[in-house]
Amino acid sequence: MTQKSSPWWQSATIYQIYIRSFQDSNGDGIGDLAGILNRLDYLHALGVDALWITPFYPSPMADFGYDVSAYCDVDPRFGSIADFDRLRDGLHQRGMKLLIDLVPNHTSNQHPWFQEALSSRQSPKRDWYIWHDPSPDGGVPNNWWSLSGGPAWQFDPASQQYYMHSFLAEQPDLNWRNPAVRDAFYQVMRFWLDRGVDGFRVDVIGGLMKDPAFQDDPVNEGYKDSDPDFLRLKAINSSNRPEVMEVIAEMRAVLAHYAGDRVLIGELYQPVEQLVFYYGAHLEGVHLPFNFNLMWLEWKAWGVMKLIELYERHLPKGAWPTWVLGNHDQPRVASRLGPAQARLAMMLMLTLRGTPTLYQGEELGLENAIISADEIQDPFAKAGKGQGRDGERTPMPWDDSAHAGFSTHTPWLRLGGDAALKHVAAQDKDPLSMLAMTRALFKLRKQEPALSRGEWSALYADDHSLSYERILGQDRFAILLNLTGQTILVEPPPYSAKLVLSSYLDHTEKAFDFSDHVTLRPNEGCIFKAL
Ligand code: GLC
Repeated sequence: MTQKSSPWWQSATIYQIYIRSFQDSNGDGIGDLAGILNRLDYLHALGVDALWITPFYPSPMADFGYDVSAYCDVDPRFGSIADFDRLRDGLHQRGMKLLIDLVPNHTSNQHPWFQEALSSRQSPKRDWYIWHDPSPDGGVPNNWWSLSGGPAWQFDPASQQYYMHSFLAEQPDLNWRNPAVRDAFYQVMRFWLDRGVDGFRVDVIGGLMKDPAFQDDPVNEGYKDSDPDFLRLKAINSSNRPEVMEVIAEMRAVLAHYAGDRVLIGELYQPVEQLVFYYGAHLEGVHLPFNFNLMWLEWKAWGVMKLIELYERHLPKGAWPTWVLGNHDQPRVASRLGPAQARLAMMLMLTLRGTPTLYQGEELGLENAIISADEIQDPFAKAGKGQGRDGERTPMPWDDSAHAGFSTHTPWLRLGGDAALKHVAAQDKDPLSMLAMTRALFKLRKQEPALSRGEWSALYADDHSLSYERILGQDRFAILLNLTGQTILVEPPPYSAKLVLSSYLDHTEKAFDFSDHVTLRPNEGCIFKAL
């Protein structure tokens, strides 16, 4: 009997494109689909296998595209359906995959569905959204809190009811308990699957179901003053309901009608013990529940090792792991850890077992931009508090031309402060750059299936370093990472081995003396292959 080979997404690497900020092609200062097409050779040469593109659908842009007003079309700011088709073809011709963002938790308040729902209590679309009478004192129905700040309820004076919004009031939540909503969405999925997308990254997937009794969310006893406001409550009624697995299984059934192992990825902010629930007991859940735990972990060697072990231990049988260092909603990894450790973080992510997702600009080691109050674009920052997400969304710097080659026009959000130093053209010329290291890691991962498909096992961890192995058949790799800024001596791999890649990118292929210890330079990571 022949065994089914494992799906493409298990050995693939994913690259996230925040479309507004990747490449503008028509001189309006906003990135677009044709811009991505123009940069496909760069992405192909980098070595990524799949692109995930953030929403490009028609939108009033209250949340920069995460407020969709038509699901089966392209916003003119981002191009046209013809541009989408060209981009898909460009990717497929290069053997790359195309993943798109599905935003099912909420629509724009300008979506015709919501406009119809708003028209009267008797509207056939009324129950497509989540409505509730005011509480007896006339106030909001319960204590649910929006992730963009403030109560999750907006009063509609015409009908004297509140509607629920997990994010901005311009993003009303859909009622996923209504079968008509589900059907409408599965149609949307089929539209894009028929057009050749290879899968979806599903926005806010854990939030689709809410408690039908509208019970309050309990207070989060672990809340710290430094935490964002929405963490004051434990969102167990407004979100994260186990019934969501029903919907996820239905989404999987939609995908199953298509050939080519189309993939379902879920956006889930959960500790690993809870995250693994979303695979489903029989793997009928999301294929890859995004694992964001490296993003908020204290960057200590012991802690990193503990996280990897915990995750590996909790994965249901046959479930495939996945790792993420950053995205368009979180401070950049190079700002969290510093540029030197960002190199190590990249080596870690690209040598762990599981599908890695890289956020645009991580391969350049971009840091968060400081955005002054008068330049803020992020609506969450405007509605809530703090810096918001602009810092990690600045335009990709390509070269030293005007606007760093991103656009011929002033960009919608200004360039980061490090754009002039870290742009692609400069790093291209520097054989030791972060870009060069990322390319080398991708190349090695492709050449050596042990690094993508191999088993993972721990070797050693202390306060300064961690090391682990990847094993496939006869091939054994040992990865040694120095998480400090000092030179340290670490335990050698338990066999003779040769160095195949140092994060410093020098002395490759040189054999190490394993008589005693391996010396790791400050912030150095090394990949050894057993002889
Ligand atoms: C997700 C997106 C974020 C967006 C939110 C509301 O968390 O990643 O950018 O604002 O959903 O759609």
